[in-house]
Amino acid sequence: MTLRRVNVIILVLLAVAFLIVVQRNLLNLSDFLHKENSDVGMILPFESELSPDLKLQLVRRGDAIPVVITAVEDRLGAVVAAMNSVYQNSKANVVFTVVTLNDTVSHLKEWLSDIRLKHVKYRIAVFNPDLLSGKISQDPQILEATKPLTFARYYLPAYIPEAEKAIYLDDDVIVQGDIQELFETSLRPGHAAAFSDDCDSASSKGIIRGAGTQNNYLGFLDFKKEAIKTLGMRANTCSFNPGVIVVNLTEWKNQNITQQLEHWMELNTKEDLYSKTLAESIITPPLLIVFYKRHSIVDPMWHVRHLGSTGAGNRYSAQFVKAAKLLHWNGHYKPWGRVSSFSDVWDKWFIDDPTGKFHPVRRHSGDR
Ligand SMILES: *[C@@H]1O[C@H](CO)[C@@H](O)[C@H](O)[C@H]1NC(C)=O
Ligand SMILES: *[C@@H]1O[C@H](CO)[C@@H](O)[C@H](O)[C@H]1NC(C)=O
Ligand SMILES: *[C@@H]1O[C@H](CO)[C@@H](O)[C@H](O)[C@H]1NC(C)=O
Ligand SMILES: *[C@@H]1O[C@H](CO)[C@@H](O)[C@H](O)[C@H]1NC(C)=O
Repeated sequence: MTLRRVNVIILVLLAVAFLIVVQRNLLNLSDFLHKENSDVGMILPFESELSPDLKLQLVRRGDAIPVVITAVEDRLGAVVAAMNSVYQNSKANVVFTVVTLNDTVSHLKEWLSDIRLKHVKYRIAVFNPDLLSGKISQDPQILEATKPLTFARYYLPAYIPEAEKAIYLDDDVIVQGDIQELFETSLRPGHAAAFSDDCDSASSKGIIRGAGTQNNYLGFLDFKKEAIKTLGMRANTCSFNPGVIVVNLTEWKNQNITQQLEHWMELNTKEDLYSKTLAESIITPPLLIVFYKRHSIVDPMWHVRHLGSTGAGNRYSAQFVKAAKLLHWNGHYKPWGRVSSFSDVWDKWFIDDPTGKFHPVRRHSGDR
């Protein structure tokens, strides 16, 4: 009698053990398949047939990696391609905060509902351009050239108030490495942000001297102005590019970085502090002042830039571009435009606009 009961118990235990083994193998299999497919940006063909438990596995757990990116209506394809590249190249729990203008929200939502992006976690934050009134020049010509959303990075804590650490990315980037690695960039105590230096090894490969590419403070700020002089900064200090930022939001808030940046924007409207030859974004000068000798460094391979500059991007070898963890098409020639270097790399991550409003230009150049 007792013996038989023991047998039953053993049988039950064996059955349970068997089920556990099967379950684990299935989980690993789905893990494996997902990984295999992520390279080409596809989802599992039979995903919807998995049991609810297995489906849960595809929902990424672990600590959230907050990524802030902006979505500009007339180049919405950029942010979609960038997000797709970040997501497909990582297994981390990436959570995007997409900052955009009110009028763009519905177009953006429709695009992000694409089947290839259906597991991407994101929320939309609406930028209020009134924030900038009195802080940027009212000169209509300058106003026209100023994209309000480029200032969103000055206000990072407002968009992700609960985060301690976060990443900011420009929309004209493609990420080829695992974003987890960028997130793990260490920030020195007392530093609110990390950037890539403009004289680092990767960046200097793309620089053509005298072709308008600036790499020191003199290229961004007018050192003849009293307000700049009194800061005692060295004009030949290497500048940095704010298209990729790793941020400690606690420090950012403690140091009132947003208010400091606003202060310099306002002062510039009165005293014209920026360099007359400023070729790049007016976003950069206030950041250079506020973070002078107070920022950490982003690995150069995590910000390979100038792909959109005249000729500069073409100087990179195909191997170098392949090895880059992040590619940035800063400059005039965007990868969705008619002429651009390495637009084939960008094309791999682009997803067609369901509303048909956005087209990479070159695809239609034959029609004209
Ligand atoms: C399943 O994968 C985990 C880690 O991903 C590993 O530790 C475990 O040994 C694997 N199990 C089997 C049965 O392959
Ligand atoms: C934002 O857009 C929605 C719908 O398009 C509209 O109802 C709302 O009034 C807009 N809000 C602002 C602040 O413009
Ligand atoms: C951010 O800064 C705060 C304040 O200095 C510090 O306590 C914290 O460890 C930092 N966090 C990270 C992730 O570096
Ligand atoms: C930041 O601003 C708050 C409130 O305006 C002020 O109390 C604090 O002293 C400021 N901190 C720094 C470091 O400027």
